[in-house]
Amino acid sequence: MPISDEQRARTIERFERHRRTWAENPALRALYAEWYGRIADALPSPAAGPRVEIGSGPGFARNFVSDLELTDLVRAPWHDREVSADALPYRDASLGAIVLLDVLHHLPSPRRFFAEAVRVLRPGGRLVMCEPYISTLSYLVYKLFHDEPLAWRVDPLADHAAGDARDPFDSNQAIPTLLFGRARPAFEAAFPALAIRHLEHLAGPSYPASGGFSRAPLLPWPVWSFLHRLEARLPSAVLRRIGFRLLVVIERI
Ligand SMILES: C[S@@+](CC[C@H](N)C(=O)[O-])C[C@H]1O[C@@H](n2cnc3c(N)ncnc32)[C@H](O)[C@@H]1O
Repeated sequence: MPISDEQRARTIERFERHRRTWAENPALRALYAEWYGRIADALPSPAAGPRVEIGSGPGFARNFVSDLELTDLVRAPWHDREVSADALPYRDASLGAIVLLDVLHHLPSPRRFFAEAVRVLRPGGRLVMCEPYISTLSYLVYKLFHDEPLAWRVDPLADHAAGDARDPFDSNQAIPTLLFGRARPAFEAAFPALAIRHLEHLAGPSYPASGGFSRAPLLPWPVWSFLHRLEARLPSAVLRRIGFRLLVVIERI
């Protein structure tokens, strides 16, 4: 569906607002440094082929992974090109890696995007994503305090699982958890060429305590920073219950 000029202007305004919030909030910058660091560690070597980020939005990736091509459905001055996730403008088997941070749960058709990823990734190439994760704790926080919807009773591989009114920020935060949890067998049956290599739960209460992009930080920076360091020591079984983020590493076989 084409994007109207008004939607385009609203989206760029939102990117600019997020860039200002990010510049003013050290907790958000620390979280993004951690997430992009984890993404960078999971990427194949640059020799595997070009690396592209889909849905770069405010463009924070530029600070952490220098050789990523930055793209978005709505092109801003800091993006390298305009790209829609469901019709990737790349040749078959031409990319080494695709990165998504907070994007999969916004796509009108995750199924079309995965089909495109199969087509454009080289064998051995990787799709690395960091997305919202619905744990016992994050369910309550996302449901009660976050402005994005969370719809649990959907088929995450159905078109419009992230909503019908197609604004680039429409979303369903449950999609990544559903896809790599209860719907994992359906995902694996639909995309036998995509092998899930690694799933990891990240970010405990330090994430909501950062204030995100819509609130002021809940804790002074030194206290927040202490909490963040403490969380890094938590065993994975605890983060499974209280985590807010899911790292997904998929390989094209
Ligand atoms: C929550 S923002 C995340 C932005 C950035 N990755 C970050 O973490 O700061 C979601 C982004 O996905 C983009 N997006 C939504 N639908 C898209 C699509 N079909 N193809 C490509 N990008 C899309 C939006 O324009 C927006 O920039």
